Amino acid sequence: LQKIILDVDTGIDDALGIILAVKSCEFHIAGITTVNGNVSLETATLNTCKILQLINADHDIPVYKGASAPLNRTPYFEHRIHGEDGLGGALRSMKVTKQPESLSAPDKMIDEVNAYPGEVTLIMTGPLTNLALAIEKAPDFPQKVKEVIFMGGVVSGPGNVTPVAEYNMFADPEAAKVVIHADFPRTTLVGLDVTRKALLKKKHIDQITNPELAHYVRDSTRDYMQRYYERNGIEGSALHDPLAVAVAIDNQLVTTENYYVDIETNSELCDGQTICDFQNRLEKKPNVRVCTDVDSEAFLQLFIETFNA
Ligand code: BDR
Ligand code: CA
Repeated sequence: LQKIILDVDTGIDDALGIILAVKSCEFHIAGITTVNGNVSLETATLNTCKILQLINADHDIPVYKGASAPLNRTPYFEHRIHGEDGLGGALRSMKVTKQPESLSAPDKMIDEVNAYPGEVTLIMTGPLTNLALAIEKAPDFPQKVKEVIFMGGVVSGPGNVTPVAEYNMFADPEAAKVVIHADFPRTTLVGLDVTRKALLKKKHIDQITNPELAHYVRDSTRDYMQRYYERNGIEGSALHDPLAVAVAIDNQLVTTENYYVDIETNSELCDGQTICDFQNRLEKKPNVRVCTDVDSEAFLQLFIETFNA
């Protein structure tokens, strides 16, 4: 089993990523770490606990709370997309018994990687604040990680917060910059270029056999789908975060190329923009493995099969 830590700002698609990771038989999940992002840290943590209870994994998987704000910006929530509660109103009345651990998210990352050097993959589906804090605290930490796979950025095409910026990069660009330039053996970017092709449609939800899970997915994605339709004219929910989890399960789902990538942090119009040097204009060594395409059908099949496992 691959050792992973999953870092989330549990909104609607993070929740689906958690379910995919837990139900897949590929991982030993050392912990789920939470971060301020789509919703506040408290809400992201609460939602994570709810999802683990929903799938009866609350006794097996510990949750660790991380940063309650970006490194040096004010939080930018996405209630527009994820609803007031972050889960599109689903699980509103669930009684939560699971509690987070006392260790902080960055410390959990550092401890786990020190205990198993070269073995731990970090899957990041929120702003990269916790990982940046771990790097700042333990500068030798990146070399001991196996790989970082993060959902974030867009290398060609429009952003989803500003005309050029994807949400996770926009919410904490300084943290993203630290992560991108850190010395990880491999850093994989799963951006909007590919996640926009990973669309969960009504016909897929109809294939989920477990009634409780099908009900949850339908309920939590209803408004999310509607908003995606209003903006993009396409019926479906973009499975941004689940695709990052799926890349850890099966690398073959995506096409990748290595490029030099940087993040803009100092511009009125372009903060959070992902700059991918396709033509090596800057003559710098590639630092990121960028996903450029996805086999959407194979991904959706894996997603549904895992939900039905
Ligand atoms: C990313 O931003 C959040 O709204 C989603 O959960 C995903 O991680 C997509 O841009
Ligand atoms: Ca997310």
